Amino acid sequence: MTDTQFGSKGWTPERLGSLAGKTYVITGANSGTGFEASRILLSKGAKLVMLNRSAEKSAAAIEKLKHEFGSSADVSFIRMDLAELASVHAAATEVLETVPQIDALICNAAIAQVPMQKLTKDDFESQIGTNHYGHFVLCGKLFDRIDLSLGRIVIVASLGYKMGLRTIQFDDLNWDNNYRANSAYSQSKLAQMMFAYELQDRINTANKNAKVHVCHPGASATSLIKTSGSLTSRFVFGLMSLSPMVQSAKKGAYPEVMCATEDGLDQRALYGPTGRMEWVGPVGKCTLEPYAYDKETMGRLWGRSEKDTNFSWKL
Ligand SMILES: NC(=O)c1ccc[n+]([C@@H]2O[C@H](COP(=O)([O-])OP(=O)(O)OC[C@H]3O[C@@H](n4cnc5c(N)ncnc54)[C@H](OP(=O)(O)O)[C@@H]3O)[C@@H](O)[C@H]2O)c1
Repeated sequence: MTDTQFGSKGWTPERLGSLAGKTYVITGANSGTGFEASRILLSKGAKLVMLNRSAEKSAAAIEKLKHEFGSSADVSFIRMDLAELASVHAAATEVLETVPQIDALICNAAIAQVPMQKLTKDDFESQIGTNHYGHFVLCGKLFDRIDLSLGRIVIVASLGYKMGLRTIQFDDLNWDNNYRANSAYSQSKLAQMMFAYELQDRINTANKNAKVHVCHPGASATSLIKTSGSLTSRFVFGLMSLSPMVQSAKKGAYPEVMCATEDGLDQRALYGPTGRMEWVGPVGKCTLEPYAYDKETMGRLWGRSEKDTNFSWKL
């Protein structure tokens, strides 16, 4: 069952008023949906801090944004490589020193469909290391600032969470046996969702203020597969992108911008396109499979994530 709750067009940026005085921190914002989300937020006067891994690509993105919105557009960049926890710690420290208020932290960056098992600097399989562990630590480091700002955390997930094992493979999180690109990606996105839903529970128990929302961009024409996928997956996605089953990166950005700005959204939910197969179409509430918030697995993943990253949340 899908439900746009915003009428037949679903949520669009037309719902946004001025965002002057608001600050958004977003990961992986130099391309794809992250870049398009940045464009929408800046167009409404928000302040934007990008956490990206490439200084060169970030400078190019900022130049483009300033060209579009004028030199006074408030957009800046802090280098952060999610595949290296030391870099995540350093970037978070810089955010805490320079960004007094965070209305939303949008966890958008990811890699996908990495054809062979690769390890991050900290020896995690690259997709769970980058997509889940990197963001797990980043959110933990910035949580108090977000909470005091009455802000939110937005997790950009993927419908891929339905395509893998549909649970967490605790005995082989690094896929040392039987590595499969798609299953490893799917598991990393499921882990991000479970982290988000467990965080909601912990925030409730601790009577904190921050909200956590989960969304996905559907199938959107971005550089995701080009960046890290195999030749075959690039070819297949390239062909699919020519069909109506894939939408623009701009439309793919709507769910994350909605989750960062719209009031009255549900928390135990997944927002994204509600059209064909939930890959495209009007943005609203999508189907959420119960295994994505299986309490026992979420709790176990949280503990394991703290242990593996050597980072303890205060919640
Ligand atoms: N496109 C889709 O159809 C689709 C479907 C489902 C879910 N998603 C999700 O949508 C989100 C956005 O992806 P996208 O499609 O817009 O892809 P994209 O254009 O490739 O953008 C991904 C961003 O993440 C950054 N990134 C990758 N590894 C990083 C690292 N180690 N540290 C910091 N940043 C890193 C990339 O930086 P570089 O430019 O330096 O590589 C890029 O800016 C992801 O969470 C993805 O899982 C996308």
